[in-house]
Formats: sequence, C-alpha cells, structure tokens
Amino acid sequence: MTKILAINGSYRDGGITDQVVETMAESLHTAGAEVEIILLRNHPVEFCLNCRECTQQPGNMPGECVQHDGMQTLINKIEKSDGYILASPTNFGSVTAIFKRFMERLVVYAYWPWNMNAPQFRKANDPKKKAVLISSCAAPGVLGRWFFGTHKQLKTTAHTIGAGTVGTLFTGLIAKEPHHRLSERIQAKAKALAVKLV
Ligand SMILES: Cc1cc2nc3c(=O)[nH]c(=O)nc-3n(C[C@H](O)[C@H](O)[C@H](O)COP(=O)(O)O)c2cc1C
Repeated sequence: MTKILAINGSYRDGGITDQVVETMAESLHTAGAEVEIILLRNHPVEFCLNCRECTQQPGNMPGECVQHDGMQTLINKIEKSDGYILASPTNFGSVTAIFKRFMERLVVYAYWPWNMNAPQFRKANDPKKKAVLISSCAAPGVLGRWFFGTHKQLKTTAHTIGAGTVGTLFTGLIAKEPHHRLSERIQAKAKALAVKLV
C-alpha cells in the first residue's frame, strides 16, 4: 500500500492549511493509500545546533543527530514513506517558523565534512519519491506562489528528502475572515492533486 506522509507547518487548528491537507488525505484514502498527518505544532522538534555532527557521516542514509527529540521518529517516517504533502502557510513571505525549524533539521540529509565548502545532498540526485506542495496567503494565490519564498522553501524540502515536486496548490485571498472555508473549486483542486501521489 502506498504510504503518504503529510507534514503540516500551520499554527491553527482547522485553518486553511489543515482543511487542504485533510481534503487531500480523504482523497488519498479513497484511492487506497495510507496517510499519516504530522502537525509540527504538536511535534517536539528542537532547533538545529549547526554542530554538523550528522553531516560528517558518509553514505546515502540520513546522518544521526546529537539531539534526542521527536525528529528521529519523523526521519524514520520520512524514510518509510512513498510520497509527501508538504504544507505551510506563508508568514512574512516565508514558510512558518515551525516549518523552517523542521527544515533546518533536515541537514541530516547532507554529507558535508569540514573540509568541503558546500553540502552534498544525499538523496537529491536521485529523487525517487513524489511530493505536493501546499501553501496559503492573504495575497492572491498566483502572486503568493511567485513572489514569496514559500514555494522555493517547500521545493527545497522535497528535494532534500529525495522527492520530486509533482504539483503545487497555493490558496490566496484567505485572510479576510477568521474561519475561511475551502471553496468547492479549491477542494476539487486539492483532490485532483492528491491522487498524483499514488
Ligand atoms: C505573522 C503573519 C504573517 C503573515 N505574512 C503574510 C505574508 O507575508 N503574505 C501574505 O500574503 N499573507 C501573510 N499572512 C497571512 C497568512 O498567510 C494566512 O493567515 C495563513 O495562510 C493562514 O493559514 P492557516 O489558516 O493554516 O492558519 C500572514 C499572517 C500572519 C499571522
């Protein structure tokens, strides 16, 4: 059975990001996939220490981090999954701070000994898995996608964990009311995008 891991960097229960991810999960279940949703707001991930211990270890597998928090469990889940939904609202033109904190901990996917100027990403040259990228913003979606850093950051995340991006959903104009509901049009888009992962 195809295993899909959704990693959601929204701060809000039931916000637009949660709604998109849940719509996609329903569609994936219907298509016969197994889906697990990780809400980074509830998952214990510390900041990267920039110690680069994990990057000294050679090989294709992620290096081992010196910290013992929830990140290793998350790496194990990433490794066991066939595809990913990577989701974060756009805050100040970027993924949220909790998504960025998670992203920096993905340095375990880099081989970067002290004598090398730049990292070599262990999985980046052979992306075997698929990812879809989800974000939302107050600006119109099309502007959000091209003018903010979020799309690039989510794409880098996919690339780092060995996935090629097969689609993006950037929902715009969603900050005019406290409890914005997904329109039928966006729900249909989310469902169509989800099945690209199977
Ligand atoms: C601190 C903060 C910064 C934001 N920065 C931006 C921004 O730079 N551009 C934008 O279009 N929307 C911005 N927004 C609107 C958010 O993108 C919007 O509230 C979010 O996508 C809602 O996601 P959620 O429903 O999952 O919480 C910001 C909102 C907050 C609270």
